[in-house]
Amino acid sequence: MKERIGVLCSGGDAPGMNAAIRAVVRTALYLGYEPIGIYRGYEGLISGQVTPLSASSVSGIIHRGGTILGAGRSPRFLTPEGRKAAYETLQKHNIQKIILIGGDGTFKGAKVFLDEYPDLQILGLPGTIDNDLYGTDLTIGFDTAVNIAVEAVDRLRDTAAAMGRLFLVEVMGRDSGFIALYTAVACGAEAVLIPETPTDFEAIVRVLERGWQRQKTSAIIIVAEGDEAGGALQVAAQLEQRFPHYEIRATVLGHIQRGGNPTATDRILASKLGAVAVERLHEGASGAMLGVQNGEVVLTPFFRAVKAHQPVNPLLLKLVEILSL
Ligand code: F6P
Repeated sequence: MKERIGVLCSGGDAPGMNAAIRAVVRTALYLGYEPIGIYRGYEGLISGQVTPLSASSVSGIIHRGGTILGAGRSPRFLTPEGRKAAYETLQKHNIQKIILIGGDGTFKGAKVFLDEYPDLQILGLPGTIDNDLYGTDLTIGFDTAVNIAVEAVDRLRDTAAAMGRLFLVEVMGRDSGFIALYTAVACGAEAVLIPETPTDFEAIVRVLERGWQRQKTSAIIIVAEGDEAGGALQVAAQLEQRFPHYEIRATVLGHIQRGGNPTATDRILASKLGAVAVERLHEGASGAMLGVQNGEVVLTPFFRAVKAHQPVNPLLLKLVEILSL
């Protein structure tokens, strides 16, 4: 009987997860393993939703968003009983090696699971649009989410300019401002509000005043969902009182940023990390997340990957300020 490798997606889905599943399945087959799909993340592991995957079961998915395995968060996996049930599923189906595709909640769970059941061998792939994991320059899904946000803001810029309005655009990122910052730089936004830095309303009003003085007809401010000033609607309400010159509108992009075809960057990243994860499992690695740093694939232990967020680049923050002159 062939040795098995299980694969699951956990947490919020991210574009590129399918490309990662495809890479895991086909590399596993290439190295002589039997790949097993686990549905709906840790929840499916607990309830035993597993099925063998063939090379053709992952045909035609590299370009598709979402995940054929389903994703989700599992409150039951936070309990010792839930993890015991998950372990029993793995034993029943003779699976010892597992690849998890997810974000920090996924890897926190994996760390506890491995502490309790050290006979398992687990590696993780960074699958989240938030790009907030320590140990990788990019997470799978981030590039696609940024491109979706950029396209949306470009459209809003047209109507903002035509109508002479200020738009507050809220992008995803509960604890992280990466999507907001990259979108702000790529769209030439007047300002960006992110959870990693304190929001200074006076500074934003000054930027808007400066633009108004030099006859700017419209303005765009990007707000990360997790900024301490609140979402785009709250920030709009506050700015209305301080800066009455433009009509103000707020747009929340929401989950639209998580859907649709992954970009080439995400497909390539997912394919590379998926394949290398299987190779590393084959060589005996465990307890770590794979990532790319300066183009190289690196492994970061789960406890470190979830301990700290990747820091935001101060140069990009400064760029938003300078280039909005
Ligand atoms: O972690 C990915 C993410 O899309 C965050 O940016 C966002 O805050 C959160 O998930 C939304 O979660 P849900 O899909 O449960 O509403």
